[in-house]
Amino acid sequence: MKIVIIGGTGLIGSKVVAILSGKGHAVIAASPKGGVNAVTGEGLEDALAGADVVVDVANSPSWADDDVMAFFTGSSRNLLAAESQAGVKHHVALSIVNAERMPNSGYMRAKVAQENIIKDGRIPYTIVRATQFMEFMAGIGQGSVVEGAIRLSPALIQPIASDDVAAAVAEAAIAAPLNGTVEVAGPEQFRLDLIVGRALAAIGETRAIVTDPKALYFGTELDDTSLVPASNSKVRLGKLRYDDWQRQ
Ligand SMILES: NC(=O)c1ccc[n+]([C@@H]2O[C@H](COP(=O)([O-])OP(=O)(O)OC[C@H]3O[C@@H](n4cnc5c(N)ncnc54)[C@H](OP(=O)(O)O)[C@@H]3O)[C@@H](O)[C@H]2O)c1
Repeated sequence: MKIVIIGGTGLIGSKVVAILSGKGHAVIAASPKGGVNAVTGEGLEDALAGADVVVDVANSPSWADDDVMAFFTGSSRNLLAAESQAGVKHHVALSIVNAERMPNSGYMRAKVAQENIIKDGRIPYTIVRATQFMEFMAGIGQGSVVEGAIRLSPALIQPIASDDVAAAVAEAAIAAPLNGTVEVAGPEQFRLDLIVGRALAAIGETRAIVTDPKALYFGTELDDTSLVPASNSKVRLGKLRYDDWQRQ
């Protein structure tokens, strides 16, 4: 199959490219660095010519509320229109577990808007929803600085290694469209303040961490259900445990 990976140079995208290329598919890693821009539309027609599947794992360079909304809505609309022209048979996108439960976060609102454009579109689709990446734990801490201190909620989190996310996305890309959503999460739950503290210590961050149940996570308060899959959902668990990931 010809499979175009939008955001194919990113953390998840580069791993999906490697998995699918290794299985013998004709894979294009598409991103602005290579002249394919899903927001402006530049290069999309050529990249998508003859494609069977498009996988969207792009991310917005700016996480400001308006920017991230414009990114995910604009790129999704452009992609679906270009896919329609090119006769693409399956659109796969990566989103976030429980995004709709955190409407005070501009990033989460943008991911929900992205999902809704896909669901309302005419291209058969699969949405893969992942929990937060293990690689993102330190970034959460760096994004939680308030007046010089790192303020973090003690809410539960179930981080997943990017290798496990990429495996799930690649699997979805070569399966039939679900016209629905699958969820993937890491194998263990942690308290956000503690796991982010460990990730920050590992990179030598010395600022104090303040545990605060009201601390905002990218604009939204959290509770113990915000960042973990619902217990009754059919979630696929990643293999890599946090300690093993950190040792790698
Ligand atoms: N972080 C998390 O914990 C988490 C959890 C669940 C889901 N997700 C989702 O996972 C997805 C992938 O995240 P990531 O961390 O792998 O991203 P990343 O490493 O930041 O990579 C972003 C990719 O998007 C590309 N890109 C940027 N602007 C673009 C544009 N206008 N058109 C096309 N491509 C563009 C970049 O291309 P260049 O290299 O050319 O700049 C790069 O390939 C995102 O949609 C995110 O919402 C993240």
